[in-house]
Amino acid sequence: MNNFENIILEQIESQVYCLTINRPKVLNALNQQTITELQAAIQIVATDASARVLLVTGSGEKAFVAGADIKQMQALAPLEAKAFSEQALATFRRLEMLDIPVIGLVNGFALGGGCELAMSCDFIFASENAKFGQPEVSLGVTAGFGGSQRLPRLVGRAMAMEMLVSGRMLDAQEAKQRGLVNHVYPQAELLEQGLKMAKKIIKNGPVAVKLTKELVQRGQDLDLENACAMESNLFGLCFATDEQSEGMSAFLDKRSAKF
Ligand code: CAA
Repeated sequence: MNNFENIILEQIESQVYCLTINRPKVLNALNQQTITELQAAIQIVATDASARVLLVTGSGEKAFVAGADIKQMQALAPLEAKAFSEQALATFRRLEMLDIPVIGLVNGFALGGGCELAMSCDFIFASENAKFGQPEVSLGVTAGFGGSQRLPRLVGRAMAMEMLVSGRMLDAQEAKQRGLVNHVYPQAELLEQGLKMAKKIIKNGPVAVKLTKELVQRGQDLDLENACAMESNLFGLCFATDEQSEGMSAFLDKRSAKF
């Protein structure tokens, strides 16, 4: 449906998009072109009013994304490296702030920029062979696509520090124990499970789902009082939608809601 070289964007079901990072020969490493394509793909999804869920995964059976492209990064000057980081950070933030749920389907290594991409999704399902890590310090650099900030928010400061300064990887089960991953599935089932979750989400009121995402994403960086005030406002806003009257009438009529 488009001319991307390094990613595939497809509508795998009505209202469900799947974005696949597709450079399997280099374990789906993120070079600048891939980030640029990712940016364009996110824009396509953002402007499709019928889109309800986005799945993000990697090509092949070995890797989700094994990091930023080390070959391309090796020769960067400081300001070029800063610009690369800024471009990726803006792209990942756009993904995180898409108004529909984004599910990361981590099908293998999610290292460095790959772990950072996964953490920019709303939640993660992992295959049994998945491995998560931030090995940047072994290359003599810090994390550059948000890892030093999103990882502590997800697994707590102490575990994040351990991972960030040692480069130790978590396997799928430990990542689940630490709250980085919601569920672990055999690799062959990962996409199917992602799709199953997408279908559950789609059954709910679309505006309510979007507002819920906005509350969680925006609310987590606010103080509790302001965050809860935002919740009251958006809750109130729901009562201006057909969705609310249909959802509540359907319950009282003992039938399924038609959104
Ligand atoms: N960038 C560029 N190429 C990469 C890559 C990366 N991040 N990761 C893997 N590749 C390439 C390898 O160079 C290799 O290419 P060749 O066949 O041409 O030699 C190919 O992918 C297959 O990889 P391996 O032979 O290394 O596979 P393996 O099974 O032996 O090891 C691995 C797998 C442990 C994931 C290993 O590839 C690895 O350690 N990769 C790098 C992981 C890493 O350090 N990621 C962080 C990058 S820095 C970053 O992301 C900064 C940031 O925050 C923005």
